[in-house]
Amino acid sequence: SIVILDFGSQFTRLITRRFRELGAYSVILPGTASLERIRQENPQGIVLSGGPSSVYDEGAPRPAPGVLDLNVPILGVCYGMQYLAHEAGGDVKRAGKREYGKADLTEYGGRLFEGIQGEFVAWMSHSDSVTQLPQGYQVVARTEDTPVTAIENNETRRYGVQFHPEVVHTPKGGQLLANFLDICGVNRDWNAEHIVDELIGGVRAQVGDSGRVLLGISGGVDSSTLALLLARAVGDRLTAVFIDHGLLRLGEREQVEAALRPLGVNLVTVDARDEFLGQLAGVSDPEQKRKIIGREFIRAFERETAKLGEFEFLAQGTLYPDVIESAGGEGAANIKSHHNVGGLPDDVKFKLVEPFRTLFKDEVREIARLLGLPDHIRMRHPFPGPGLAIRVLGEVTEEKLDILKRVDDIFISGLREFGLYDGCSQALAVLTPIQSVGVMGDERTYSYTAALRAVTTDDFMTAEWARLPYEFLATMSNRIVNQVHEINRVVYDITGKPPATIEWE
Ligand code: XMP
Repeated sequence: SIVILDFGSQFTRLITRRFRELGAYSVILPGTASLERIRQENPQGIVLSGGPSSVYDEGAPRPAPGVLDLNVPILGVCYGMQYLAHEAGGDVKRAGKREYGKADLTEYGGRLFEGIQGEFVAWMSHSDSVTQLPQGYQVVARTEDTPVTAIENNETRRYGVQFHPEVVHTPKGGQLLANFLDICGVNRDWNAEHIVDELIGGVRAQVGDSGRVLLGISGGVDSSTLALLLARAVGDRLTAVFIDHGLLRLGEREQVEAALRPLGVNLVTVDARDEFLGQLAGVSDPEQKRKIIGREFIRAFERETAKLGEFEFLAQGTLYPDVIESAGGEGAANIKSHHNVGGLPDDVKFKLVEPFRTLFKDEVREIARLLGLPDHIRMRHPFPGPGLAIRVLGEVTEEKLDILKRVDDIFISGLREFGLYDGCSQALAVLTPIQSVGVMGDERTYSYTAALRAVTTDDFMTAEWARLPYEFLATMSNRIVNQVHEINRVVYDITGKPPATIEWE
């Protein structure tokens, strides 16, 4: 594997992504990770990431003693390169001004750039520069402003680049990273088949020959894919429990059943609609609604699983971004326990099975394809645990859920029909409590307003409203008021996040 030591750059995760896209397994560890910790990963190469510090700052983060002496190639990126140069006796100084943005390499060569031709645009973001080369190194790339833009020492196999090869603004950066992988001689077999084999082997090793595994299914891509994987690994010693809380979208439960059962998943569907709706009756405060749903979810899950016998293991679809120990937080203290479905209590008596702990979402989607998960689930937008309850504003009733399900179905089917679905990160419909006057067939109407919302985002922390074509919105509005008689007005939400959130509650 390639170990990336993180010194706090916002781009560190991208380095891992690039290596994995190139077929090489790589992991992120905190920059100060111990030598033993790094050795556990069997590194065939090490990357020292960028970061906000200066190498001459007091307390500047540095790799643990012995890391630089490991007999594997090392690539320093930005701060990482400055660190390599500084450690080897070179000089690093604050430049007159910060260099930020695209820069053309005026010349480049050497092992890292092998096979790369033509103009090389590099993304820069640094205040310090290497001003004097350490012994044994040579300069292999320059820009107008930065005479030392890349360095290498082929003897010790130490390499450094001042720019960020991992970002898209460095279009040929991928080739450079591929060259580094070649230098490391790392296996390039990190692909979906390989991942599936490894994961199945890992699950079998953990669960043994007789262990039973329990899994909560949400209908989303992570838990569905996990169900397929576990079914392959342990057959019907897996029990997947899908709780229908009555807050699902039109036909969703049937879709999930149809996708998983034929592929061998022992799926138990629990009809808990009455319990959930009963508890939600008369409650209109959003936080209160969420709390009730969380509590009822745990109740339903425990009640049902008690009937299913003893389970030693509980599987969860925790992904790599939830567990990365990076310099961004306080190392291990920053690890949070992500609950895939609804949020189970912290004191669960099970041993956790989390095969996706090392994977990114798009890797899960790739293995989902391999395992045969239908595309409509595989590429599905995220859907919140509390479901439609947080999209029926105010009190949730069966009647309102029924209205919203039909509106949502028209909107989401419309997005798919017009080829717009995959271009949005998430799309949803909201039933507002607003009633207003309209006219239909010479008749006065007094009905609800539905709101449509679609966003684009990378991380769901911030989002932009999707610029859907007017013609599409017009078609949706027509279909909704014509087919859903309880709605006489449709609005489109044009607020970003912040200041709004994606969901309305
Ligand atoms: P907001 O509304 O906070 O949502 O901008 C960000 C993302 O999180 C989803 N979301 C949830 N997902 N349980 C979930 O599993 C929840 O309680 C929950 N609340 C919001 C939301 O759909 C969006 O993708």
